[in-house]
Amino acid sequence: MTESRPAVDMEKLVSLCRRRGFIFPSSEIYGGLSSCWDYGPLGVELKRNIKQAWWRAVVQQRDDMVGLDASILMHPQVWQASGHVEGFSDPLVECKSCHKRWRSDELEGDKCPDCGGELTEPKLFNLMFKTFIGPVEDEASVVYLRPETAQGMFVNFENVLNTTRKRLPFGIAQIGKSFRNEVTTGNFIFRCREFEQMEIEFFVKPGTDKQWFDYWVEERLNWYVSLGIKKENLKLREHTKEELAHYARECYDINYLYPMGWAEMEGIANRGDFDLVEHAKSSGKGLSYYDEESKEHIVPYIIEPSAGVDRTALALLCDAYDEDVADGESRVLLHLHPSIAPIKVAILPLSRKETLTPLSQEVYAELRQHWMTSFDEAQSIGRRYRRQDEIGTPFCVTVDFESLEDKQVTIRERDSLRQIRVPIESLKATLQAKLDGEDLFVLPDGGKIWKEGK
Ligand code: GAP
Repeated sequence: MTESRPAVDMEKLVSLCRRRGFIFPSSEIYGGLSSCWDYGPLGVELKRNIKQAWWRAVVQQRDDMVGLDASILMHPQVWQASGHVEGFSDPLVECKSCHKRWRSDELEGDKCPDCGGELTEPKLFNLMFKTFIGPVEDEASVVYLRPETAQGMFVNFENVLNTTRKRLPFGIAQIGKSFRNEVTTGNFIFRCREFEQMEIEFFVKPGTDKQWFDYWVEERLNWYVSLGIKKENLKLREHTKEELAHYARECYDINYLYPMGWAEMEGIANRGDFDLVEHAKSSGKGLSYYDEESKEHIVPYIIEPSAGVDRTALALLCDAYDEDVADGESRVLLHLHPSIAPIKVAILPLSRKETLTPLSQEVYAELRQHWMTSFDEAQSIGRRYRRQDEIGTPFCVTVDFESLEDKQVTIRERDSLRQIRVPIESLKATLQAKLDGEDLFVLPDGGKIWKEGK
């Protein structure tokens, strides 16, 4: 695999996201809140599309997976049994001069990277956010904001088994917010204190775990490729024995080549029977599975592909970012896969003249029934195309004065700049085919090639 960094640096991307309404600093009018971000009108669509594509691939299209939406606050014993109260910590050091805090395992030397000051001895710092349930703020009412969605699936193993009558192997999938009081933050949405995870807990018979682990590593890698991420920007990294989490027998990260370098986008772990055994011990409930074949109760092993919505969004944006020249003018564009693009189609009347408005509005009203569609009649057509390119809209539909006569409109494709003219009555079906990947020059009855592109 060649090392071809994405064309974008982080500063440019943060600026585009801010300027076009993808992502804003949280509570910006108060100066922001460290490592918390708000997804704006386009960002929320991008995130919804990522989650929808994931759900479709891992739940909707499979017989062996069901969904769950567990609560963020869970019984505090969950985090005792899972090992998080004891072990979910980073080693923290503080600079004695500037008082900045660092993770000692991420430092190269023994001095403060900012001011060269002396550092304190490392202290373990638990990453879970604590809060209180009910009106009394005492030790007995401490609860945690979950640092992973996974535990909700382990503690519901029996509920799901009994209500769905699933047989092994089967999985539970969940999307939701998680919270970690990270010591080192930064790199935009890469490391946040509040983020979203898309996790699968896949329960298998012991002995088949290696085969399922390999299956999920490949499956998940292919999913990112199916969303248009370039293969050369993806890499698998196996965890060494020393870095394996306390519950893991084997773990691979799917790394992406972010602007700051290779970093984890998803982790896939073989958790063995750790979680069900520990929760059974702690709760006193037998979390096992009756195997009809062997007529025995067994404790399934768990394969866990755990992805981050925010890190996937960042990778998709980095991978899609491009700058080129179109019609003699430079433009910024996002080559987002149509399934991920926040807006699928933009309706652009050629001019603001009133005669074009009713037909343009009619086309807009029809298409917005099916996809996130936008309507833009402000400024020159060239500037409006650039605006759509910059947010990754795959298709623009132009309504012009001829449209009033021939009842045809022009579809312009973002990446190739090619244009075709199609009857309005075939517009929806034509766009559907193009959004599904059909070549732009495959024309419906009565359609015409209008412009060959760049
Ligand atoms: N249940 C296993 C688990 O949580 P993890 O490797 O700690 O494993 C899984 O997290 C994924 O969650 C990561 O690959 C990443 O995509 C996302 N993630 C973890 N911490 C994050 C953070 N602070 N900000 C954004 N995403 C994060």
